[in-house]
Amino acid sequence: EKDILNKLPLRGKKVLITAGPTYEAIDPVRFIGNHSSGKMGFEIAKAAANLGANVVLVSGPTHQKVNHSLIKVIPVVSAQNMYDAVHEYYNTTDVAILSAAVADFTPKEVASQKIKKKDKTLTLELTKTKDILASLGAAKKHQFLVGFALETNNELENAKGKLKRKNLNLIVLNSLNDKGAGFKTDTNKVTFIDNKDNITEFELKSKTEVALDLLNEIVKKIDA
Ligand code: CTP
Ligand code: CA
Repeated sequence: EKDILNKLPLRGKKVLITAGPTYEAIDPVRFIGNHSSGKMGFEIAKAAANLGANVVLVSGPTHQKVNHSLIKVIPVVSAQNMYDAVHEYYNTTDVAILSAAVADFTPKEVASQKIKKKDKTLTLELTKTKDILASLGAAKKHQFLVGFALETNNELENAKGKLKRKNLNLIVLNSLNDKGAGFKTDTNKVTFIDNKDNITEFELKSKTEVALDLLNEIVKKIDA
């Protein structure tokens, strides 16, 4: 009997995940977005649910689909929507994993009518979005908080900086340098860095396998 229970190490745990891009409206028909597929976050959600967790998956616009009794999907559009949804669930969350590619900037004003091409140039003024992950770090109580870092240079140093600044337990460094890693692919090359400076580097793997590695690492750390 103990063996069976051990196979569901996240049974009864609440896991909050963000996935996908955000879309920031410019006018009624246009937005600023990015190429995030949402695949990594959806794979993490499935891996967590398969370990018995109750998962809330807050996702920006994607083509990903999931149908699992333990996964509740909350679709959102903008960074502000994602911020609001995440904070609704954070207090009761045990583990939060923020893999979304949140827009860093959003148009300062949304035009109420479609912008016409009357002039030769168009200047948009952008303001910074709220950093969702940093806000969870600042509000952290019992939660185990995991972030991602997408880097192209000074990778380890930048990722460690984010881990510290945002008060994380673990950060997943995503190397965009490597072929086959990143936004549109089915594979990722990751390195885990924890808040005790332990660094674990992985080979290029499918996002499904990266999700399993990540959940495995989290289970080890919350049990210890
Ligand atoms: N993140 C977030 N809210 C934002 C921006 C980022 O929650 N407004 C989260 C991402 O989901 C990711 C982590 O912060 O888990 C790091 O995102 P990343 O883009 O790598 O770093 P930034 O802190 O945005 O810094 P920069 O883009 O300048 O490197
Ligand atoms: Ca960013």
